[in-house]
Amino acid sequence: MNSYFDFPESLIQIIERIVLEETGSTDPKAFIQQFGRTIRQLSDSFNQLKGSPPVETTTRNEGYPAAYIAYFLPGNLLKIGAILLELKRTCPGRFFPEPEDSKTIKVLDLGAGPGTLGIGLLDFFARNPEAPRDRIVDYLAVDRERGPLRSFEKLFDRYQAVVTPSLKNRKIEFRARTELRPIDPKRSLPESSYDLIMVGNLINELIGQGFTTIELSNWIELLIGKLSPSGFLTVIEPALRLTSRNLLKIRDQLAEQRRALVLAPCLHQHACPILGPAGSEKDWCHHDISWKAPDWVQNIDRAIGNRKESLKFSYLVLSKPDQEPVLDPNLWRAVSERIETRGKREVFLCNLKGRIRYYLLDKEVSPLNRAFTEIERGDLLLLKEEPGTGDAKPRVHPDWQAKIFPLEH
Ligand SMILES: C[S@@+](CC[C@H](N)C(=O)[O-])C[C@H]1O[C@@H](n2cnc3c(N)ncnc32)[C@H](O)[C@@H]1O
Repeated sequence: MNSYFDFPESLIQIIERIVLEETGSTDPKAFIQQFGRTIRQLSDSFNQLKGSPPVETTTRNEGYPAAYIAYFLPGNLLKIGAILLELKRTCPGRFFPEPEDSKTIKVLDLGAGPGTLGIGLLDFFARNPEAPRDRIVDYLAVDRERGPLRSFEKLFDRYQAVVTPSLKNRKIEFRARTELRPIDPKRSLPESSYDLIMVGNLINELIGQGFTTIELSNWIELLIGKLSPSGFLTVIEPALRLTSRNLLKIRDQLAEQRRALVLAPCLHQHACPILGPAGSEKDWCHHDISWKAPDWVQNIDRAIGNRKESLKFSYLVLSKPDQEPVLDPNLWRAVSERIETRGKREVFLCNLKGRIRYYLLDKEVSPLNRAFTEIERGDLLLLKEEPGTGDAKPRVHPDWQAKIFPLEH
């Protein structure tokens, strides 16, 4: 596992302290006893379990801000770093290109809540060796609820104080502001231009408020219009069938008519095969990264009967519909787990040729194709067919070359 996904101890201590302060709990045990139920309810609502109240209701619950910060924020904040690393791997030229004039990266976080993705970004710039250096990050968190924004301010001030030496070393200045404002996708648009717009776990809430995927793709197109020429927009949604499929619909509405470019995770701009005639209602697409859950989260997990073993989410990185990235046609994205059946390993791979279930027979594993046996969901795989050896079947031959581009260790 990439050590970046070991949750930083200093940050979990800050989270713990803020949660205890905000709830007046004497210690973690007392907090879990008092708020375990609220966390469970929120988790059920986010997972859209049958009979659970809609997210809209649970987020109006008095205990919501503290419960969110305690349990959902730690995992969610690492997702933005994972996405940025993925963008760097897939389209390196699109990952915060060297500035021509201004060193400032202007960031807008819509539906920021307690600034989960802002804290994630601060942590990414402070800890990740692949993050850009010598920049000013100017971050604005927008939400309609005052409570979470206030918590963000506390979290930000305290964590920034901890990571200041590292930021200084990397010549990063990180400024943050909040804005209390409802977002109406039919009306509200940012006034200035941004290098990064983040929309985290908001789309499903807007759908819950009555907006359609068509209205939301129109809104995202307008947001993309507000990006700087090299800017990009990230959308994160829960890895549920319904929320992920809604995100795919939005993706298709934007990509098919060239209203946006999809930079990641997709390696093509065609319609998503999952929503096409060959797809099934049962399919969706999501990403999954390993992390080391802090003890604090593991203790909550035990109390509420959950297991946050890995971080699952669906996402898109979008940009203005200018030049399409030129990608090797032999490059594939693994869009399923590795399926190990008797005598073979299989995995669904996706690129402009479609979403194809490739397989490798155990007896045909070779030094050249061995990487196929190690592939994990979300990996980029270079799969080079030896000319003339391909047949009609998606069978990986012994003389095909397979190479994985995972997150660096
Ligand atoms: C699930 S939280 C996500 C927080 C954070 N982005 C994350 O990914 O962890 C959704 C946030 O969106 C905010 N929200 C929902 N609808 C909104 C709207 N119409 N205008 C502004 N904020 C909204 C809620 O107040 C909540 O803080």
